[in-house]
Amino acid sequence: MLPKIEDERGNLSFIEESRHIPFVIKRSYLIYDVPGGAIRGGHAFLEQHEFIVALSGSFTVRLHDGSKEETHTLNRSYYGLYVPNMIWRSLEDFSTNSLCLVLASTPYDPRDYIRDFNAFLNLKQ
Ligand code: TYD
Repeated sequence: MLPKIEDERGNLSFIEESRHIPFVIKRSYLIYDVPGGAIRGGHAFLEQHEFIVALSGSFTVRLHDGSKEETHTLNRSYYGLYVPNMIWRSLEDFSTNSLCLVLASTPYDPRDYIRDFNAFLNLKQ
């Protein structure tokens, strides 16, 4: 849960690095205009931690730690999901006009990606 300041003018939420999320933000990116049925992600990170927020609409985050899977539906802009490194994750079931914000602990580096699920499982052993 992020802070949520409510008054008659509407709601305000905020995120501070190292306070509401356990890392320093090096990058943020947005995922939007996702066609129905599309699946984003489908990878793990060697080093990167991230924090995922549904700024608008809803989507499901599927997480696998190498032994079990869990799913989280994000649909509130004051709720975020922290995903540590070495967790396989995918994003799916995007609603129309959904907007996903990802705060990441590292700059973009394709070498940090594990894109093969079996390779991920091997690394987790
Ligand atoms: P990709 O990793 O396939 O997206 P997703 O994990 O959501 O399925 O990334 C799509 C493209 O965007 C790919 O060419 C890499 C590029 N990209 C960047 O250049 N910088 C970034 O910060 C991110 C996240 C992706």
